[in-house]
Amino acid sequence: MNQMKESERILSGVKNIIAVGAGKGGVGKSTIAVHLAVGLRRAGASVGLMDCDIYGPSIAMMTGIEGAEPVMVGEKQIAPFDACGLKVISMANFIPSDAAMIWRGPMVHGAIKQFLTDVAWGELDYLIVDLPPGTGDPPLTLAQTVGVTGAVIVTTPQPVALGDAMRAAQMYQKLGIHVLGVVENMSYFVCPDCKAEHDIFGRGGARYAAQGANLPLLGEIPINLAMRVNTDGGDAEDDFDESQNPAIAKALTEMVENVTEQVRIRNETQPPAEPIQVGKK
Ligand SMILES: Nc1ncnc2c1ncn2[C@@H]1O[C@H](COP(=O)(O)OP(=O)(O)OP(=O)(O)O)[C@@H](O)[C@H]1O
Ligand SMILES: [Mg+2]
Ligand SMILES: [Zn+2]
Repeated sequence: MNQMKESERILSGVKNIIAVGAGKGGVGKSTIAVHLAVGLRRAGASVGLMDCDIYGPSIAMMTGIEGAEPVMVGEKQIAPFDACGLKVISMANFIPSDAAMIWRGPMVHGAIKQFLTDVAWGELDYLIVDLPPGTGDPPLTLAQTVGVTGAVIVTTPQPVALGDAMRAAQMYQKLGIHVLGVVENMSYFVCPDCKAEHDIFGRGGARYAAQGANLPLLGEIPINLAMRVNTDGGDAEDDFDESQNPAIAKALTEMVENVTEQVRIRNETQPPAEPIQVGKK
């Protein structure tokens, strides 16, 4: 009864939808979403990146499409931007950057639904979705509209962030979304002076918390000045250049490989993801 015809399914050309979430703001969710998307593309996949963080859309800046005007395809669909070799759409391209928007629940729901249904995503191996922090309505809208392959939870190593990250992981599981694992961002600092790895926030916190929750650790990404500058300047690609930044390139490549592997395992062991039915979960 719930089985939809393939042609009726939203995003029927997209093989894997991956939500990037976090318990707290500012832990590097958008940074990880962009690098995951770029890394998958570098490995040969076709990748879309959708910025669902309506409250603070930063994907536009991080992919260099700030201020670009959306273009229609035909009468009903919006063309995603072509940036960093990805198909990208960000709420930042639909609202004035200096506008203080007041988002009521139904508007949030409507905006996210439109990004899923009205953007010409076409055929993709992966659609990476950057969600706002916390456990509010956006993940619910996503889960009700499309079948989400899995969620990547981003956290920093401090106990205050970890607790919220684990609660976010549980929320995804309650929505019927498979949790692919946890990324520890700003994990440690490779000191330019003494070359040692300084554990500013307490490296290893995510590994420990993930183990406790029986979740894979997908990566440990150091805090790094070049990565900050590249990310905010729309040059995430440079972070994969080993000659420029070997520590970051290695950590990011490992994260991308681990996510790819966890997606493969999920798809081999579980049925294709379906949208959840309202009232059932
Ligand atoms: N590993 C890192 N090394 C250096 N800077 C980083 C790292 N990760 C993130 N940053 C920087 O930290 C800032 C916050 O990151 P980001 O915007 O990705 O966080 P977020 O969790 O998406 O925040 P929000 O909750 O506001 O959406 C950005 O300026 C980003 O460039
Ligand atoms: Mg963000
Ligand atoms: Zn030092």
